[in-house]
Amino acid sequence: MLLCLFCMLLGCSNRTTTMADYDIVPLPQEIARKDAGAFVPNEQTKICYDPNCEGQKKNAQFLALYLNQLTGLNLEITEKKQSKNVILLKNDFRHSTAEAYRLTVDAKSIVIDGADVAGTFRGIQTVRKSLAGTKTGDRIAFPAVEITDYPRFAYRGTHLDVSRHLFSTDDVKTVIDMLALHNINYFHWHITDDQGWRIEIKSRPKLTTIGSMRRQTVIGKNTGEFDGIPYGGYYTQEEVKDIVRYAQDRYITIIPEVDLPGHAVATLAAYPELGCTGGPYEVEGQWGIFEDVLCAGNEDIFTFLEDVYSEIMALFPSEYINVGGDECPKTRWKTCPKCQAKIKELGLEKDDHHTAEEYLQSYVIQRMERFINSKGRRVIGWDEILEGGIAPDATVLSWRGIEGGIEAAQQHHDVIMAPTSYFYFDYYQSQDHRLEPFGIGGYVPVEKVYSFDPLPEELTADEHRYVIGVQANLWTEYVTTAAHLQYMYLPRLAALCEVQWLEQERRDYRHFLPRVMKLTKIYDLLGYRYAEHIFDVTATVESDFEAREMEITLHTQDDARIYYSLDGGNPVDGILYEQPLRIGQTTTLKAVAVRDGEIRRVFEQTYNINKATFKNIALKDAPSTNYVSEQTTVLVDGIQSTKAYNSGEWLGFYGNDLDVTVDLGESTEISEVKAGNYISLCDAIFPATKVQVYVSEDNETFTEVYSAQMTDRPSERNGNLTAFAASFNPVHARYVRIVSETVKAIPDWMDGQAGRPAFQFVDELVIN
Ligand code: ACM
Ligand code: ZN
Repeated sequence: MLLCLFCMLLGCSNRTTTMADYDIVPLPQEIARKDAGAFVPNEQTKICYDPNCEGQKKNAQFLALYLNQLTGLNLEITEKKQSKNVILLKNDFRHSTAEAYRLTVDAKSIVIDGADVAGTFRGIQTVRKSLAGTKTGDRIAFPAVEITDYPRFAYRGTHLDVSRHLFSTDDVKTVIDMLALHNINYFHWHITDDQGWRIEIKSRPKLTTIGSMRRQTVIGKNTGEFDGIPYGGYYTQEEVKDIVRYAQDRYITIIPEVDLPGHAVATLAAYPELGCTGGPYEVEGQWGIFEDVLCAGNEDIFTFLEDVYSEIMALFPSEYINVGGDECPKTRWKTCPKCQAKIKELGLEKDDHHTAEEYLQSYVIQRMERFINSKGRRVIGWDEILEGGIAPDATVLSWRGIEGGIEAAQQHHDVIMAPTSYFYFDYYQSQDHRLEPFGIGGYVPVEKVYSFDPLPEELTADEHRYVIGVQANLWTEYVTTAAHLQYMYLPRLAALCEVQWLEQERRDYRHFLPRVMKLTKIYDLLGYRYAEHIFDVTATVESDFEAREMEITLHTQDDARIYYSLDGGNPVDGILYEQPLRIGQTTTLKAVAVRDGEIRRVFEQTYNINKATFKNIALKDAPSTNYVSEQTTVLVDGIQSTKAYNSGEWLGFYGNDLDVTVDLGESTEISEVKAGNYISLCDAIFPATKVQVYVSEDNETFTEVYSAQMTDRPSERNGNLTAFAASFNPVHARYVRIVSETVKAIPDWMDGQAGRPAFQFVDELVIN
């Protein structure tokens, strides 16, 4: 209605008019809608900028590009002032916060006035995002408005690891474009690690000739199996300069990280004399934390690091330089004569809560900080830099939770919050891994990212000032392609950026959802790959053991209309979902959400109601209390979990076996017993090693009907889910006892874990 009225007012033909929508991501701080018509750009509209303000011409070019991409309009850019039919770019807005802007729209003009040129650029992004979903050739109208906007945090970061996997300069630029779209202003570039050194250092050529190449890469999660394919590469200094400029044009600062003194195996492979043992070392082809680190007792490491950082600082104008500091084992230092001599020389053997080696690490970081400070730059490090005493001016990147951040703020150090459980974007976005690219584990969905409050209650209002921002990190052990990279970032970057930008009291996930859904239209336009879980239909199931039925409730996060089928048919042609469904026999449920005629992923789940389902069970030994569902009846609730082992849908056994007896209620003919196992070898989760089935009519005398040893060397190549099936000649029985043995000693082929007990995770017993 509003739209048609608009058409009449504008006297337009039958072209569609799309209204710009200022409810974008991140939501602007203040949106004052005005009763002053709308600005309707046409081919005569000019983008006008002040030539005296450096940077505004580039801003104008970005705006012209965005408008062209979204609407097809080709607007002329001019320095000539005009008062009508103009989009004017300025930076005269008076505001105490850098990057603030005011966007004023009336029938004659759009004025994007930044507190600085970066602010104008953020305002341009707002104009751009207000047009999400516009189609080329649409007439567009910007309703009159005055938006006053500014970032909540000055530091709004995103990290990318290019050591574990390398991405082309174009791929990195696309990441930078993605950050610009989300008003993110720091790109933390993790360019060195055990598995590869990725930046040309002219004074130390072996860092790239040797340190950038690994002989092979482990398959899966440190399975002991390797692909045999050499992998490597690096960015030349010219490429780095180009990327730095590309980011600067978008008001993004790149913070380089050369991790020290740990995560240094690639460095040692190139220059073995910098390690405690002298090597030989090989660029790592596995993932994890490695004991070979820089020798803190060797003065040469400081010459080396100063040379490297000098070249790094010449390439990256960033005030912040990240020195890493994380995950540095002290094993080598403890037995290294040079390190021990250094400890003595510096008097680091104090009898308190830090070890001498922790003080030695602190010495290394503090010494590097002095060097970096002497060049007018400042140091950031992971929260381990607190151990043994933080360097005087260092900013802490709190990743192992928020505790490091709290401690640093209490010591009046600046803090960036990046806790794993909210901001590790290498973690899965769904607990059902069947549809996900293979990943490290964990579970950080969009709503979890969004739920983070950066200012902990443990800190006083005064200490809150030290929390300068928030960052998400993307480690790439399992991220091998640009498409996968984008999928891990998006749309979580949208949730991140609203945490970074918008005041806490204005944040509301329900309000965010339609805005992020709309933003995906820009992702579509730009060809970005993104995760679509926010659009999914999900189901919760209550098992009614008395009625021997299950009640299934379907949801979408935004209460979209859902259609379903129970007969295998296409759910789009199915039944409108209005109330929970009850099913009492094996059924395949398919469901789909429909939004404005658009559909996304189809939900599909088979509920297998068999002879064991809803029956009484007795477990000989209790399952492990970690991870276990509240009720052991999950074993016979009709749902084979497809989620992660710690989703609460699995029973876990550690050091003992699944030994369960099912009471079928009456003597029943049976000939098969099946169960699902979860595998995650690096988490010590193995499938059953032996399966036995016994039957009985009286629950006292049991007869074995099946016994089999399982494979010695399970593989995760086909995913985390596996099953065993025990078939036997048909027998009649009321009681069925299943003993599924847990691995008691992890075999030798499993590096690092051999000899320890394993877990067994089981879900859903099926008896046919
Ligand atoms: C880290 O995740 N090792 C900082
Ligand atoms: Zn040493």
